[in-house]
Amino acid sequence: MTDLSIEVCGIRYPNPFVLASGPPGTNGKVIQRSFELGWGGIVCKTICLESDKIINLVPRYGKLKSRKNPKDVIGFQNIELISDRPFEVWLKELTECKKAYPEHVLIASIMEEYNKHAWVEIVERTQETGVDAFELNLSCPHGLPERRMGAAMGQDPEIVEEVTSWAKEASSIPVYAKMTPNITDPTVPARAAVDGGADGLSAINTILCIIGINLDTFQPMPTVEGYSEPGGYSGQAVRPVALRQVMEIARACEGKAISGMGGVETAEDAIQFMLVGAQTVQVCTGAMLQGYEMITDLCDGLSTFMNERNIARVDDFVGKALPYFTTHAGLVLRQQKAKREKAGQSNRDTMWGGDIAKETDTLVTD
Ligand SMILES: Cc1cc2nc3c(=O)[nH]c(=O)nc-3n(C[C@H](O)[C@H](O)[C@H](O)COP(=O)(O)O)c2cc1C
Repeated sequence: MTDLSIEVCGIRYPNPFVLASGPPGTNGKVIQRSFELGWGGIVCKTICLESDKIINLVPRYGKLKSRKNPKDVIGFQNIELISDRPFEVWLKELTECKKAYPEHVLIASIMEEYNKHAWVEIVERTQETGVDAFELNLSCPHGLPERRMGAAMGQDPEIVEEVTSWAKEASSIPVYAKMTPNITDPTVPARAAVDGGADGLSAINTILCIIGINLDTFQPMPTVEGYSEPGGYSGQAVRPVALRQVMEIARACEGKAISGMGGVETAEDAIQFMLVGAQTVQVCTGAMLQGYEMITDLCDGLSTFMNERNIARVDDFVGKALPYFTTHAGLVLRQQKAKREKAGQSNRDTMWGGDIAKETDTLVTD
């Protein structure tokens, strides 16, 4: 059997597929079920110290469906906040999960207010459960930014660096910072997290969206007492945006662990995230729509991909697409060079005779 395991930040994952923070990791029972079914790891639903401040609404989901096949969900909006379950209950359940499944990777997603004491407390108390790593939720796009949490922190590089350094200082296990896509240049907060000491970057959280407006009532969806708010977009529609952001973060933060996500539904989707630099790939909406059992197809698909190409280890193909990204100028130079070559013209005395990669690709990283 193909070896699908991978070691990242000293943690061995039985396979690179990780359930992302959200409904799939909503309590200890479903976390244990995900391990039984074979997921390599799971990030629990984001927890905080004072869950009574978290008020979740019904309805809180909206779907964008295919015009041709309305059963096919293309995009998914949520206005769900982080976990509203008590912190003490979470501590007990995380401890039980780690005891029952020591070989599987359990990552605690945590969020707090802009307050060093709170971040230190949540890190110190949560790591006593035996979780393998932290993911700092600096990216929830709705509700929590009104309280200067989530994406409100992730959009401010100084705060990203500061909060990451607080968590790192208190943590004895690896710390990932989860990035918001709701920003012009995703590499800015990613680099700030690295400056704060992050071991890894997770990307992307959901993209701010409005899933639709009811043409009879004029009310936006999901509709709560006649009103709505922009929410977080996920599912297959976001995958191209996510791939671009993960690629840029991977290039900007070379050597750091990357956990990629956004619209993964098949092994082929996941492999593409790995090719742009992600060692592990997370799935949230895909598992909500298809069920936890999709892990079998993900593992089978990855094995087939590796076997067909004689790839022995998952590590061997992570990041292999990164060298093929350049700038528009880089593409123009390459095409002009190729045309000259085809026409039998020498490139020797032209700038194409030089090192094209040097001439152009530096533009990307400068
Ligand atoms: C209903 C729902 C709830 C979510 N809750 C959280 C959360 O509590 N913490 C978090 O970091 N991300 C949360 N996310 C974001 C996902 O972890 C993931 O970053 C995003 O949905 C993109 O991946 P996907 O397309 O596979 O869903 C949630 C997503 C959804 C759809």
